[in-house]
Amino acid sequence: MKLFSSSTSTNLAKKISHLLNLSLSSVDTHVFPDGERRVRISENVLGNHAFLVASTNSPVDENYMELFFLIDGLKRSGAEFVTAIIPYLGYQRQDHVFREGEAVSIQVIIKILEALGIDRFISIDMHTPRIADLFSLPVTHLSALPLFAEEIRVILEGGPQERPIGSPKIEEGSIAPSGRSRMTNSILVSPDMGGIARIKKLAELLGGMPYVALEKNRDLETGSLSGDAVREGRIDGEKIAFIVDDMISSGKTIDLAAKALKRIGIEKIYVYATHGVFSDTAPQLLQESPVELVCVTDTVAIAKEKHFEKLEIISVGDIIAKEIQQLATSK
Ligand code: R5P
Repeated sequence: MKLFSSSTSTNLAKKISHLLNLSLSSVDTHVFPDGERRVRISENVLGNHAFLVASTNSPVDENYMELFFLIDGLKRSGAEFVTAIIPYLGYQRQDHVFREGEAVSIQVIIKILEALGIDRFISIDMHTPRIADLFSLPVTHLSALPLFAEEIRVILEGGPQERPIGSPKIEEGSIAPSGRSRMTNSILVSPDMGGIARIKKLAELLGGMPYVALEKNRDLETGSLSGDAVREGRIDGEKIAFIVDDMISSGKTIDLAAKALKRIGIEKIYVYATHGVFSDTAPQLLQESPVELVCVTDTVAIAKEKHFEKLEIISVGDIIAKEIQQLATSK
């Protein structure tokens, strides 16, 4: 097997390559003065299973073009099997017609990927599991929720500052006795009803933690958000909230939810989201929002200038590496 990466996902791909003890295969990418790009697979892939890691975050269209060209290069070079690993799948929120006349953008992307001849598609925490059904080829939908459960357990056990670097993590599925009292004081929060399945899954991973889902309405014309009432579940004197979402783009969803939770007496708020898209002024908004921590994964490479004090980045490299290993051995 061979492992490839698009230019935007090199750091994540390097982590995966290290975990798999497999070198990252090289690609020549050239951008012409007019902005057109040319990619070239510069090693022999004939008869190989090629795994290509390529998130399609901003600049989304450029990253998609690079991905399409890489797939075409791999196919033309004779790769027997191409698995497209798109940890963050751009356009995934446009998964149906919201208003008459709109394109279903993610469906267009899927048609192109299939026409290019990928054999399998892997992604992480897609906006809705329904996206998997739009493919007619095998899809693996991975999740960062187990990572978040582990991080939340650490806080329930006394906070990250109390875990010395390198100390063993708490066993999966277990909460030490001291954490139980904090657990009764804590609640999982989905900032909107769209995240209800996600929050239920996380509640299960954490041994039946209580959860609520908040109300959120988005104006389809302007994108502005409103709504903060609890739509599902109940907040009953809890003081610590863990907000969980699939992605953070403008940061407004998180900020709205955090402020609503503060108003009803939550004292400490921790945020977990798989994809740190961080558009526009999101880093500043999140830094100033009444939250203690914003934890995202490395599905999107976050430029240094977008880092902020409350940000923590954890890696999905291990989850992807394990999946690759399993697919490579099951073939
Ligand atoms: C929406 O349904 C998603 O799950 C996220 O809540 C949303 O995309 C976050 O966007 P923003 O950070 O711009 O509010």
